Amino acid sequence: MKKVSLRTAAVLVAAAATIYNLGWTATVLAQNNSNDDLELAFNGHCRECHSFDKGDNRLGPTLYGVVGRKAGTVPGFSYSDSLKSSGITWNEKILDQWIANPNAVVPGNNMGVIFSGLSDAGERAKIIAFLKQDTKAGNKM
Ligand code: HEC
Repeated sequence: MKKVSLRTAAVLVAAAATIYNLGWTATVLAQNNSNDDLELAFNGHCRECHSFDKGDNRLGPTLYGVVGRKAGTVPGFSYSDSLKSSGITWNEKILDQWIANPNAVVPGNNMGVIFSGLSDAGERAKIIAFLKQDTKAGNKM
């Protein structure tokens, strides 16, 4: 599938950059030396559509502050009606289910159309830990 190979390519590019471009690695480490591993998981699976900058909506809404936030409430992002009316408040448990299979949590949402889900529980746990750290740290960028 196209999106799978795109993600694989992104991971390979990141790995190649880590090995061959020390300048890039140093920059990344300087920006964030406590949770590199978690951030890499996020970058590998989510960043093509989501930013962490406050107010920075891309193909998906910014995930800045998402833990504890009511679903479908980032200003300026055009959500599906399904997600807006889901009644969800994002916590670790529902985020895990959402990342594993968005369509099973909110049928008719717009993310599930383009992202079928991440089956690797370890990667999901890293991503959720990253989302939580980021929320606690406030706006990191
Ligand atoms: C291919 C693009 C794409 C990818 C990849 C993607 N998302 Fe999304 N995401 C979206 C879209 C589009 C929406 C809006 C869904 C809607 O309106 O129904 C969304 C919505 C969300 C929401 C709801 C936010 C809110 O404000 O209620 C969360 C949480 C979320 N994504 C987390 C993630 C995580 C974590 C990953 C990585 C595992 C990820 N997404 C990967 C496109 C994507």
